[in-house]
Amino acid sequence: MLVSGGNRGIGREVCRQLVARGDEVLLGARAPEKAAEAAREVGAVPVVLDVTSDADARRVADEVESRYGRLDVLVNNAAITYDTWQRTATADLDVVRGAAETNLYGPWRLVQAVLPQRASADRERVERGGAVGEHARLHAVEDRAERPDTDAGR
Ligand SMILES: NC(=O)c1ccc[n+]([C@@H]2O[C@H](COP(=O)([O-])OP(=O)(O)OC[C@H]3O[C@@H](n4cnc5c(N)ncnc54)[C@H](OP(=O)(O)O)[C@@H]3O)[C@@H](O)[C@H]2O)c1
Repeated sequence: MLVSGGNRGIGREVCRQLVARGDEVLLGARAPEKAAEAAREVGAVPVVLDVTSDADARRVADEVESRYGRLDVLVNNAAITYDTWQRTATADLDVVRGAAETNLYGPWRLVQAVLPQRASADRERVERGGAVGEHARLHAVEDRAERPDTDAGR
């Protein structure tokens, strides 16, 4: 399981509870020292992950694949700027753009990075199963891989 923004707040508590349940948890944080400290405290594995970085997302996905084969659960938790003070007509678009980069494109980027692993793992399971009825599920998996805006982040 991978939790973005796991060094504090809700993300950190999610990490703590998942570890307590016995799950293997990768705690993502954009600052290496924060990742290391929080991961040590909750018993997770630290990963340096700035969700606005394509390179970070790819590196973390590659690490997951090489160490674990695939990711079971992605918790897209990292976010900034709950800017309820802004109004559409007068909003500072630089602030909006910054928030969108983290809160919208960040989770989307991570889904795109890890989804191919999920799709290929599901496909492998389907192919090993070999039942005719499973073909529909295979197509559903492929379809989901092409449409990350549906239930791909769950
Ligand atoms: N708190 C609430 O009442 C509430 C209610 C509804 C929904 N939520 C949602 O729950 C989530 C967590 O909320 P929270 O209150 O725990 O927030 P928080 O305390 O502000 O923590 C946000 C976390 O996201 C990380 N983060 C920010 N930008 C990042 C980036 N570019 N890359 C990686 N990590 C980044 C922060 O890391 P740094 O330490 O490096 O800044 C921090 O770990 C958010 O998605 C929020 O929208 C919260």
